[in-house]
Amino acid sequence: MTDNRFVESNRLQSKASQLIPAGCHTYSKGVDQFPQLAPGFIQSGNGAWVTDMDGNTFLDWGMGLRSVSLGYGYPRVTQKVIDYVQKGQGPNFTRPAPVEVELAELLVELIPSAEMVKFSKNGSDVTSAAIRLSRAYTGRKRIAFCKEHPFFSFNDWFIGTTPCNNGIPEQVSELSVSFQYNDAQSLERIFELYPGDVAAVILEPVTSIPPAEGFLKRVRELTHKHGAVLIFDEMISGFRFGLPGAQTTFGIHPDLSTFGKAIGNGFSCAVLAGKRDIMSLGGLEHLQPRLFLLSATNGAETHSLAAAIETVLEFREKNVIGHIELIGERLQEGWRQTVMAHGLDQHLQIGGYPNSPVYVCKDEQLIPSAAFRTLFLQEMIREGVLIPYISISYSHGEREVTKTLEALDRTCAVYHQALDQGFQSVLTGPPVKPVFRKFN
Ligand SMILES: Cc1ncc(COP(=O)(O)O)c(C=O)c1O
Repeated sequence: MTDNRFVESNRLQSKASQLIPAGCHTYSKGVDQFPQLAPGFIQSGNGAWVTDMDGNTFLDWGMGLRSVSLGYGYPRVTQKVIDYVQKGQGPNFTRPAPVEVELAELLVELIPSAEMVKFSKNGSDVTSAAIRLSRAYTGRKRIAFCKEHPFFSFNDWFIGTTPCNNGIPEQVSELSVSFQYNDAQSLERIFELYPGDVAAVILEPVTSIPPAEGFLKRVRELTHKHGAVLIFDEMISGFRFGLPGAQTTFGIHPDLSTFGKAIGNGFSCAVLAGKRDIMSLGGLEHLQPRLFLLSATNGAETHSLAAAIETVLEFREKNVIGHIELIGERLQEGWRQTVMAHGLDQHLQIGGYPNSPVYVCKDEQLIPSAAFRTLFLQEMIREGVLIPYISISYSHGEREVTKTLEALDRTCAVYHQALDQGFQSVLTGPPVKPVFRKFN
């Protein structure tokens, strides 16, 4: 079936797949992650809304893979970047720019566990830097990572542990071992299995699943006891579960933490933050063997850092997190009422924290289903809502909630039809696929 809403997008998609492996630069943006009837390319954004190549406008809950925390084209951030460009304050120089120290000072003040910070462009860079730093600091090689947490880095130490491990020597992957969230004993077992060899424990402090009573505290105790570095990956929880993140809300301070996504309102800025005794190993003032921590030509691109300063200040000055939580509550509440009215409360469920809701699409047997998820995405898109996941920004408000609930209401009718007559009766194209799979 053809759909003339996406003519330009489809044309560009064919070209992109010939020019760019996977047709894009983040796997979660790929054609295998969206229904066939979806906008393939986004041209512009404004607040919580985006316009695709064909001029279709959508309400967006994905917000640039959760990076656009305040909103598309957010005036304070955008103006700062324009000023930087116009005044020639960047984008890059032969020596550092003052903005590097300015942002560092702001973040060290904001992040309770940080005495030093180092910037890069991607979350993967800073989590991998945290791993290297931990190995150097402890003189050990093994990494314990949390199994339920889907993504830490595109680098070998993590991707080697997924089914998509082509090109990664098993000698590298074997050094990363997993434990279960909310199961401190599974971590204890790793320490027993590899005595004196665990360099770091890395996890997201919280996701949609709350930490069990005492779990994070126990992880902190175990890492102290066994001399391993504790890394909190706050890429998603940062600037959402408190300011700067879950470490403040749950009161557990890691040795190192990593931030990205929300921090630059879509401008690329990722942060490795941590204690001086560990972080300074990457510096010039010690007598230990040198550690090549993070070093990138574009690592301190000035506008991104300036954008991050304005974003952080906006979070600090306005109650951004409070607003996000309120909108999340409204959405969750309205969602539950809407699906209940259609008798679909077991099939289209919403959960998680209000600041980071998650939804799940289930089939006739109440099993989470890629096909039903694809159908759900397809129908929401038909109604003008792009909702691959829910990342609420400061620009989402009552209007956006209302629009979403109206779209959900109409989507429920089609969902019913799919439950009655099979998803094939209403889905165009193939179901979405898991990112981490062995073969295409
Ligand atoms: C928890 C977590 N850590 C690390 C990363 C990697 O960040 P980036 O995509 O900026 O490399 C992601 C990205 O999705 C993430 O969700």
